[in-house]
Amino acid sequence: MTPHPALQGRSVLSLMHHPADAIGDVLNLADQLKATPQWPAALAGKSIAVIFEQPSTRTRVSFEVGIARLGAHPVVLAGRDMQLGRGETIEDTAKVLSRFVDAIVIRTVDHGKVMELAEHADVPVINALTHAHHPCQGLADVMTIRERFGDPRGIRAAYVGDGNNCCHSLMVVGAQMGMEIVAGCPAGYMPDPEVVAICDAIARDHGGFVRVVEDPREAVADARAIYTDVWVSMGDDVAEEAQRIAVFTPYQVNDALMDAAAPGCIALHPLPAHDGLEITRSVYHGPQSAIWDEAENRLYVQAALLMHLLG
Ligand code: CP
Ligand code: NVA
Repeated sequence: MTPHPALQGRSVLSLMHHPADAIGDVLNLADQLKATPQWPAALAGKSIAVIFEQPSTRTRVSFEVGIARLGAHPVVLAGRDMQLGRGETIEDTAKVLSRFVDAIVIRTVDHGKVMELAEHADVPVINALTHAHHPCQGLADVMTIRERFGDPRGIRAAYVGDGNNCCHSLMVVGAQMGMEIVAGCPAGYMPDPEVVAICDAIARDHGGFVRVVEDPREAVADARAIYTDVWVSMGDDVAEEAQRIAVFTPYQVNDALMDAAAPGCIALHPLPAHDGLEITRSVYHGPQSAIWDEAENRLYVQAALLMHLLG
């Protein structure tokens, strides 16, 4: 494979500013990797730091397994065990890690921190979730939609619930692929209007659109996929939980909401899920769930991304 020039040696913080064909190349390579039991040792001899300042199951395991399967060495670090956790600056951490590793993957709440890391690192930085964006998740979401429906151009997906990082990243990757994304979010919890405006402009260039409404049933009308995520994200104030539950309860993805979408609609969720809150078990363990494929697809999109950044 030939690394896409807009990805080779670059960082991935949101995928808002990458060209659509680069994202298409990542998704195509991810499909190929999924169909190939024995992966090429495409990253042999390389080392990749994977830093977690927040908990993770899927991201941690999928990066560590994917990096190893590509013949590279994952250096998985808990932020609190690093000098970063004792006040060493992001700038100094970026400069030192760049002398040892070929790429840095990081999960942290503050998006500005990842931007600062990328600014000072001499190696590509991948955002493995901030409070603002979760681009690896967005890639896996759209990979899953492509698997179920083929070309995502013009396919409608609804996001229902908190206008958070996963909402933003579905909008970004969906827009780049020309999808129609309708977010249904309550007032006060809408996605960032700047992200919506940028994504809508990108989507319109590729035959789709991005729009936000308040009514969850309006959001899911004609949707082929309904996506939801937790009502309290990492970095949100847990003291607000009761208030958030009250606000978001009408946005629960349950059988009735699934029935209000297009026939054959699939359910998506980045996981971990909370049965009886943002989604019901009948949906996420039910026949319309594509959630387990979506989780598995994290492995392939991230490996494909690394091959394009480091190939
Ligand atoms: N979807 C996701 O990022 O899961 P983890 O928090 O388990 O990594
Ligand atoms: N919005 C969630 C996603 C977890 C994968 C969070 O940021 O906690």
